[in-house]
Amino acid sequence: MLSIRLPLALDSGLLALPETGRIAVIGPVAGTDLSALPRDRVHVVQGFRPDHDAFAARGYEVSTEPAGPYAAAIVCLPRARGAAQARIAEAIGHLSPGAPLAIDGQKTDGVDSMLRTIRARVPVGEALSKAHGKIFTLQVPDGPVFQDWAAKPLHLPEGFQTLPGVFSADGIDPASALLAGALPGRLGARVADLGAGWGFLSRAILERPDVTELHLVEADHLALGCARVNIRDPRAQFHWADALNIVLPSRMDAVVMNPPFHTGRAADPGLGTGFISAAAGMLAPHGTLWLVANRHLPYEDTLKHRFREVEEIAGSPGFKIYRAAKPAQAQTPARPGKRRV
Ligand SMILES: C[S@@+](CC[C@H](N)C(=O)[O-])C[C@H]1O[C@@H](n2cnc3c(N)ncnc32)[C@H](O)[C@@H]1O
Repeated sequence: MLSIRLPLALDSGLLALPETGRIAVIGPVAGTDLSALPRDRVHVVQGFRPDHDAFAARGYEVSTEPAGPYAAAIVCLPRARGAAQARIAEAIGHLSPGAPLAIDGQKTDGVDSMLRTIRARVPVGEALSKAHGKIFTLQVPDGPVFQDWAAKPLHLPEGFQTLPGVFSADGIDPASALLAGALPGRLGARVADLGAGWGFLSRAILERPDVTELHLVEADHLALGCARVNIRDPRAQFHWADALNIVLPSRMDAVVMNPPFHTGRAADPGLGTGFISAAAGMLAPHGTLWLVANRHLPYEDTLKHRFREVEEIAGSPGFKIYRAAKPAQAQTPARPGKRRV
């Protein structure tokens, strides 16, 4: 919890901010309390749309990418090691040698091993441990000490490009593969892929010749960037957006999705049910939802509430695939956006 550790780090002198200059806070999730920092100097860097919008609504300057120079930076560690390293390398690229860089993370996000790894490269002072995590600081080294940590695209054998930290970066998700195999030969002209990730399902959708328009809706800016690389088809339209709030230009004939069901580390089936409601709201009256979910997820009540025809059309011991048709009339988004797969 950066909210708890940051004021302690500042009060104890563990993090000494320069008197002037911008301060980057990279990757804080919505709700993180940054009031210990001088707001007019803070630049929040956040590529996950609901978190990005939450900081913008609180009046912070927010972007998807760092835009230095900064006098100091605070990096919030994501769970994926490669993504964490890339975030640190990127922050350093926007700081001058000697500038303070604070790194904050939960134990469950690997902060202890990150501290050990960094200590093996550069001097690091005492770490402050609190609220199941740590914050520590280093002075930006002079030289390319962390250059090898810069983000490197991963190339999957099926011809897709991904990045560390995006959903299913190392390979095609088995649930999505199952859904792709169960889709009918025709989907309709206008289709949306909600939570499109790096574009696996979108490519399968675009194999259908009747599709004239595909809307890829994805909250993770990095994942959508990968999708832009992977999907080179003029029928594709890319939306960096919260699927729970987006309003598409017209009603869809089909929605295809493998919805997220985690907020941070915690399972959150409410996110998946929010996606189902959002899908019902964006479909034309004759439109159809094609959905895959882990078998244990309790989506049936919401499906039956939002659609008049619901059938399980395929599955495996771990996953179930639903076709849901005849959406109940216009839905409003189920709830504000939440985070992650
Ligand atoms: C289970 S993954 C599926 C990704 C992709 N469709 C695939 O099959 O590989 C769910 C995706 O939803 C995205 N996501 C999470 N919350 C979102 C939201 N509120 N709006 C849009 N996308 C979201 C995640 O970043 C992730 O890429």
